[in-house]
Amino acid sequence: MSEGKETIGVIGAGWVGLVTASCFAELGHPVVARDIVAEKVEALSRGETTIHEPGLDEQLARNAGRLTFTTEMGELLERARLIFVCVDTPPTRSGDADLSRVRAVVGELPEDGNHVLVMKSTVPAGTGEAIRRDRPGLAYVSCPEFLKEGSAVEDFMHPDRVVIGADAGDEGPGDAVAALYEPLGGAIVRTDVASAEMIKLASNAFLATKISFVNEIANVCEEVGADVGEVARGMGLDQRIGSAFLRPGIGYGGSCFPKDVSALKMLAGNTGYHFQLLNAVIEVNELQKRRVVQKLAGRLGSLVGKRVALLGLAFKPQTDDMREASSLVLAARLQGEGAEVVAYDPVAMDAARDLLEGVELCDSPLAALEGADAAVLVTEWPEFAALDWRAAAGRMAQPLLIDGRNFLDAEELISAGFQYEGIGRQSADDRHSSASSVARVQSTPRSLRP
Ligand SMILES: NC(=O)c1ccc[n+]([C@@H]2O[C@H](COP(=O)([O-])OP(=O)(O)OC[C@H]3O[C@@H](n4cnc5c(N)ncnc54)[C@H](O)[C@@H]3O)[C@@H](O)[C@H]2O)c1
Repeated sequence: MSEGKETIGVIGAGWVGLVTASCFAELGHPVVARDIVAEKVEALSRGETTIHEPGLDEQLARNAGRLTFTTEMGELLERARLIFVCVDTPPTRSGDADLSRVRAVVGELPEDGNHVLVMKSTVPAGTGEAIRRDRPGLAYVSCPEFLKEGSAVEDFMHPDRVVIGADAGDEGPGDAVAALYEPLGGAIVRTDVASAEMIKLASNAFLATKISFVNEIANVCEEVGADVGEVARGMGLDQRIGSAFLRPGIGYGGSCFPKDVSALKMLAGNTGYHFQLLNAVIEVNELQKRRVVQKLAGRLGSLVGKRVALLGLAFKPQTDDMREASSLVLAARLQGEGAEVVAYDPVAMDAARDLLEGVELCDSPLAALEGADAAVLVTEWPEFAALDWRAAAGRMAQPLLIDGRNFLDAEELISAGFQYEGIGRQSADDRHSSASSVARVQSTPRSLRP
């Protein structure tokens, strides 16, 4: 039922905008969503979903009657007072956030006292203040988005918290935005605009730091014979630490962490503050993507002419987003070493096609593994856990698997005939070959070993 519910305007129908539009429609609001890409608007108007997000297809279909997609600003401004800006803010060459799309949108919004700009795009702290200075007649509320791709609908509908920043004079618009989110039941954090902007950047930078931290711990575990899975389990039970984001792997990617960490570093730098910790977080992440290549070379020697299959390409499971995916760096590094790279992903093949020059894309995991000298698990899609690994081993030239996410069952792979190596734990085939030496290695740092 949409009677009496306020119409919402959304600008930018990408991951955040489309999910925002769909979820507000689910809550009963009529929604007008505007994007400048005509094909996207046409596809959405025909009822086709333009991104892969669990539950989104069904939700959009259920609420089609409340959703209008358009390339025009006129209808949106006519029908909606609260306008959620969800345009992209990619990194510039310098690492700062590129605000050109945000500026273009702000320039189109009238200072008529009838509209509220609600900023959902991730912007550097200070952006809201600058917009308020330039456009004093436009009410401004910061409402950063915290959804995770792969569970975006679920995250929007069940938020841990909703952050709403409004400065003096914009308390009423802040209340109106808070009222929209109240039915969802998450904590609502009311604050000023600059603090809201910082909460978003600091949250992503902290999560990225946690990932780089556990990746470094994993690398030390390999040296001293510890198992990072056990270490993370023992650490994560401490409530001050928590278990989330303590999974080692081949580095973080995606459209948010790399650019937001860099944007926070640059934001600090532009004020004259040197954010040292973030330099290390970024460097560890870059190096982590390359460690897989070292692991392969350790097993295979020269990679020239070796056929390496990448299992998974998207930056995480349940999405077809390839922005800053670790697979892109890994494929390029392997090609640089002279390897022949083949790949398979359950949903990101179309998105990957133009980005992976020279990589042979296969239409099933077994086809990718055919004749391969090694496989790398890049994205932890459930399909890979369910694969017939015995059949896979039979198809490969050498059954070697580097598990870049510590996702697969090592024992199962070894009994299927694989050499298996994960991240931050002793390779399982080494464990099998000598249980007693493991005990010795585990208690003796490498530098003290005979
Ligand atoms: N993707 C995420 O997981 C996520 C999570 C939280 C926050 N964010 C932030 O949200 C913002 C949007 O991210 P995204 O991933 O949805 O980006 P996206 O690239 O998927 O979508 C942006 C959309 O805006 C459209 N657009 C650009 N200029 C426009 C204009 N002038 N008018 C109308 N539409 C316009 C683009 O065509 C595109 O469809 C970014 O600032 C991002 O950092 C993203």
